[in-house]
Amino acid sequence: MLLGVERGDTVFCSALTFAASANPIVYQGAEPVFIDSEPGTWNMSPAALEDALRDARSNGRMPRAVIVVNLYGQSADFDPIVEICGRYGVPIVEDAAESLGAFYKKRPSGTFGALGVFSFNGNKIITTSGGGMLVSDDEALISRARFLATQAREPALHYEHRVIGFNYRMSNILAGVGRGQLRVLQQRVEARRAVFDRYRRGLAGVARLRWMPEPEWSRSNRWLSACTLDGAVPGDDIPRVIRQLAAERASKPGRCGSRCSSSQSSRNAASMPTKGGRCRRSCSRAACACRPGRT
Ligand SMILES: Cc1ncc(COP(=O)(O)O)c(C=O)c1O
Repeated sequence: MLLGVERGDTVFCSALTFAASANPIVYQGAEPVFIDSEPGTWNMSPAALEDALRDARSNGRMPRAVIVVNLYGQSADFDPIVEICGRYGVPIVEDAAESLGAFYKKRPSGTFGALGVFSFNGNKIITTSGGGMLVSDDEALISRARFLATQAREPALHYEHRVIGFNYRMSNILAGVGRGQLRVLQQRVEARRAVFDRYRRGLAGVARLRWMPEPEWSRSNRWLSACTLDGAVPGDDIPRVIRQLAAERASKPGRCGSRCSSSQSSRNAASMPTKGGRCRRSCSRAACACRPGRT
């Protein structure tokens, strides 16, 4: 809505993503056009984007916007994407729902588009149980978003509404829960990266298994540890894959995501092997920042 997408328009969108990236296009009565991914990032291919924009221009049907997703916590390759979209005059919406805390060339994920969106859904790296955050450098866009998200009430003493509004505000209580977790965001990222490394080590040598690559300019938050299997796992490797997945599940993480065996976590001590009071698995701290009952 903020970018003027209307019925009959087209909006480009990353092909490999969760349905929620494309749903808002359809809410507006517009048509999503999916742009393929590149193997190096699993995100939108700049070359495919350029081809699609060239076709769109020659057909006289330019998209209103391009939604670029940062899949599983890894940024798309934004330098070429920003350059191409700038050349064609099409704004970017960065879907950073999964990538809070990640970086692209030392710049935080979510800051590359006209608009960036983050999710604080229950399964994300920080959560307010639901809801999310919209960011932009454009004050006018943000103030329009606030207006529409809070019932579109005109600034008058009486109740006056000239356009249809929504109730998308986040409660102050949930915002407080989210702000508190921002302080531990980088610890959460480290914990997720440690989970990824454990899987990679534990499953090293399994044939046909390829981990999501991380280009040298990227620092993924590894929100999800993702791999592809080129065909079936060879029979000999199946028990090892099962054991590794079971080990990951059995050694319950602390709420911060790391596996710690602090004295406070004695409830889980049986499943969290310790050595000299320290966690043997992922971190060398004597105790982790998370305590039972603390979020
Ligand atoms: C890539 C992506 N985009 C959008 C969303 C939607 O976020 P929310 O659930 O906060 O609406 C999600 C996850 O839920 C997501 O993974």
